[in-house]
Amino acid sequence: MTLPIAVCVSGRGSDLQALIDAIEQHRLDARIVLVASSRAGVPALERAAKARVPSCVFPVTKATRSEAQATMGKAIGVSGARLVVLAGYDRILVDAFWEALGDVPVINIHPSLLPAFGGLNGMRVHEAVIAAGVAESGVTVHRAYRGKLDEGEILVQRRVPVSPGDTPETLADRVLAAEHEALVDAVGLFVAGATS
Ligand code: GRF
Repeated sequence: MTLPIAVCVSGRGSDLQALIDAIEQHRLDARIVLVASSRAGVPALERAAKARVPSCVFPVTKATRSEAQATMGKAIGVSGARLVVLAGYDRILVDAFWEALGDVPVINIHPSLLPAFGGLNGMRVHEAVIAAGVAESGVTVHRAYRGKLDEGEILVQRRVPVSPGDTPETLADRVLAAEHEALVDAVGLFVAGATS
């Protein structure tokens, strides 16, 4: 059965695009029932509009975070999503979100081989990888839970070599390509009922 999913975003939306493309190309038997963004005017929302996928902005400020995320959790519940994908959502999810969402599973994508380099985000992950001088990095898709950051069962990992001349930017590009494949594979596990 086609899996209804919600995707939470905040910016560029290339992970969202990977899901849109996989669905359009019949590589993934899913349907995006809601794209939820923490920010207005971001490219992710344009990608949703172009794919004719419903989207909504739940603007998050420090003062409104709890209310905005509770509203987002409720909207996801109403959308009928059976899986929530955090694809570049740039805010910590507060208790009000989890309470409003109920028991829909949530997954997150992180651009490192967790548990290594957890707790960092964006380009800071790749800067830390290069500063540490490790030979490989990668990407992790994992279950996300209330009160936990970059923790939860690992569903899919892809390894990406770090080259001697890499900058954080060149490494980020290579990791991003792996992210797009890993995310589609991870959602595919839920489609197949291999995890729930
Ligand atoms: C990705 O690197 C993802 O791992 C991280 O945020 C970035 C989102 O990129 N959580 P995009 O907005 O999907 O292009």
